[in-house]
Amino acid sequence: MKTMIWEDGVLKILDQTKLPETIEYIEAKDVETVADAIRRLSVRGAPAIGAAAAYGLVIGAKNIDETDKEKFMGEMEKVAYQLASTRPTAVNLRWAIDRMMNKVRKRDDIYIAGVRGELLEEAHKIYCEDLEANRQMGEHGQKLIPDNCRIITHCNAGALATAGFGTALGVIRAAHRAGKKIEVFADETRPLLQGARLTAWEMMQEDIPVTLITDNMSGYLMAQGKADMVIVGADRIASNGDVANKIGTYGLAVLAQAHDIPFYVAAPTSTLDMNLSSGNEIPIEERHENEVTTVGGTRVAPAGVKVWNPAFDVTPFELVSAIITERGVVEGQYQENLKKLMENEPQTSGVCSGQNPAK
Ligand code: MRU
Repeated sequence: MKTMIWEDGVLKILDQTKLPETIEYIEAKDVETVADAIRRLSVRGAPAIGAAAAYGLVIGAKNIDETDKEKFMGEMEKVAYQLASTRPTAVNLRWAIDRMMNKVRKRDDIYIAGVRGELLEEAHKIYCEDLEANRQMGEHGQKLIPDNCRIITHCNAGALATAGFGTALGVIRAAHRAGKKIEVFADETRPLLQGARLTAWEMMQEDIPVTLITDNMSGYLMAQGKADMVIVGADRIASNGDVANKIGTYGLAVLAQAHDIPFYVAAPTSTLDMNLSSGNEIPIEERHENEVTTVGGTRVAPAGVKVWNPAFDVTPFELVSAIITERGVVEGQYQENLKKLMENEPQTSGVCSGQNPAK
């Protein structure tokens, strides 16, 4: 199932709010539809929203009816702002937008029709490179998984959250494909149930054994000796190794440490924010109270109750056993080792040529 499809200048976005019951694509022909899909979580997961925003900029450039270069660039900045202000936590969104806008900014030689083509090529590259990074991450990460391993995961860091294959679920997929016996415990992930609706579904599609648990069951599962490790994705990782991920991740990391179980984070380097010295600087999205007071549209709390709904939390680096990236696995001194990792030239296979990988 493709998270998004690029076809004839239209971005078809799999509406994840309707999964698993209904498979439906939203046809985005304008920037507002893309921005709205990101805001509503129709497309979600850090790498996937970055790729969707990249295609959003292609659509924006196509729809700007301007021949004057200055005016075209001014309109492009507005489109970039519109897409960037949809969600604050996942740095992949801004990373992708900046990468795209570098094709437009700081250029005297801008030729509008040419830029439109370059933007499309860059969006395809962002999508394709994510796909490739996930496969590489899978290869690096699966070495950490022994045979007969019972793994807890939180939220959905799978194919649905990326261009394909997934980060945390990509590692699990790779271990499964390598012939290892795996059992996944998927936290349901309140309030929006990405674990129940998406992870459980994704694992079942591929016959990877999965057991659904509610978020408050992980501690007991560990205490019973029924979990061997935790693997999650990330929305933003600060330069010291602090990790922002779906709300509930921090609790899981504390529990993993208390039970002496490794806690792994799988994320592409596009999720690293080397500008931030610690997780305290990561902006945490707060979402509408309805997400907490209702489940599947049914009210489960008294009308008027005060609600707090942060969508993410920050896990301090001390609780993270290793960070799995496409460039390799980082452990120990994160500050130093993440810096070294980013200094190394990425190994590219050259498969991402700018041809449409999202068809
Ligand atoms: O609010 P969401 O569903 O976008 O949150 C997604 C997560 O927290 C994922 O774990 C994270 O983006 C990593 S996805 C590869």
